[in-house]
Amino acid sequence: MAHGEDSATAAARGGLPRHVAIVMDGNGRWARRRGLPRSAGHRAGVQSVRCVVEASLRRGIEALTLFAFSSENWRRPRQEVGLLMELFLTTLQREVQRLHEQGVRLRFIGDRAAFAPKLRARIAEAEALTAGNATLHLNIAANYGGRWDIAQAARRIAEEAAAGRLDPVAVDADRFGRHLCLADLPEPDLLIRTGGEQRISNFLLWQIAYTELYFTDLLWPDFDERAYDEALAWYAGRERRFGALPSSAEGGRANDA
Ligand code: IPE
Ligand code: IPE
Ligand code: MG
Repeated sequence: MAHGEDSATAAARGGLPRHVAIVMDGNGRWARRRGLPRSAGHRAGVQSVRCVVEASLRRGIEALTLFAFSSENWRRPRQEVGLLMELFLTTLQREVQRLHEQGVRLRFIGDRAAFAPKLRARIAEAEALTAGNATLHLNIAANYGGRWDIAQAARRIAEEAAAGRLDPVAVDADRFGRHLCLADLPEPDLLIRTGGEQRISNFLLWQIAYTELYFTDLLWPDFDERAYDEALAWYAGRERRFGALPSSAEGGRANDA
């Protein structure tokens, strides 16, 4: 999608992002501050997911991409990884029908080969059930890594070239990008990270080239509709230039050149 088209659309939408991506961080610290096990933080975090999904639906946001489990999160204790997998499964089973009724299209991005067969099956069912919906594209990044995403795109390009279906000379950024996750959606306009850290932690890498980055110290279970609105208001005040001149300078451009 052309960048000019993106920014023009953003302006027409009154500064509302089309696509919001969130690194949902801080569950463990939220629990520790209450003297609770980390698992309690992850459970509380599910409520915040519900909250941002509902708020996104109400505000007319087109796509919401949530970082739920990174390709590096397997480094955590077995017990915590197991709890997170269990939460994905139970939440999916509990929420999918309602999401479907709300017109949500649910998709998982990441390498699902590492998941248990039962979870893989539920994911496939949820994706199939909601495939025709378009009110909100809800993407859950699970066993996702930005480097994995780029590498899998490279592998597919290489396979096409090796099979003689693609001339390597034709590989440019646009062509490459079509093989990445979420290539059919506009790139994220706004990326929110809760929990105080100001890093990307291998979330979407390619796709956030021109995304506005918003960091808040709030821990994910404390992130509510008001906090979301604050982030959206901050976004509405950004001027996106995509490498061009600010729109206020446009008129004088011919003279300055
Ligand atoms: C984010 O919260 C959830 C996942 C990474 C699955 P954390 O579990 O990273 O919480 P903190 O950063 O330890 O507080
Ligand atoms: C990023 O949080 C991953 C998710 C929110 C799923 P982490 O807690 O894993 O990130 P680091 O380790 O602090 O960079
Ligand atoms: Mg963390």
